[in-house]
Amino acid sequence: MKKRSGGAQGLKILVIHGPNLNLLGAREPGVYGKETLAGIDRMLEQRAAALGVVLETFQSNSESRIVDRIQEARGAVEGILINPAALTHTSVAIRDALLATGIPFVEVHISNIHAREEFRKRSFFSDIALGVVSGFGAYGYVLGLEGLVRKVQSRQAQARRPGR
Ligand code: DQA
Repeated sequence: MKKRSGGAQGLKILVIHGPNLNLLGAREPGVYGKETLAGIDRMLEQRAAALGVVLETFQSNSESRIVDRIQEARGAVEGILINPAALTHTSVAIRDALLATGIPFVEVHISNIHAREEFRKRSFFSDIALGVVSGFGAYGYVLGLEGLVRKVQSRQAQARRPGR
């Protein structure tokens, strides 16, 4: 069968999970649900395969390792899906890494950060993200991936248009 061209075929997306997300499933299930991180990655892999997208996933509890991973992704991926977790509310360094590399990204949160404590309502990422998904549980990652792929594709199509 002939492969369709012009779709998301071959797009590379990096998924970054921030601190404490390795404990999903056991961590505050009333807030974050019972899905494990491995389960979320599996769900994303399935959706990515259907979309024809190649995924790489990365989890770290360390801000500096996340900064390093974003820098390494420069020129190697077309988009980033990131749940910065607690670093959402504190990390100028990760914000700056995303700005420095210019990689388009979508911010995801399992919980609705706007319906929780005041300090969670401030994000260092939302104003520079392509989009934000918050409050849909683990499924939010799939929504975020779909939104990211769509946006990256339409930006690429626009860049290819003649007369630009
Ligand atoms: C989170 C929300 C953050 O406030 C929190 O620190 C997390 C997870 C979420 O996915 O809902 O660790 O990003």
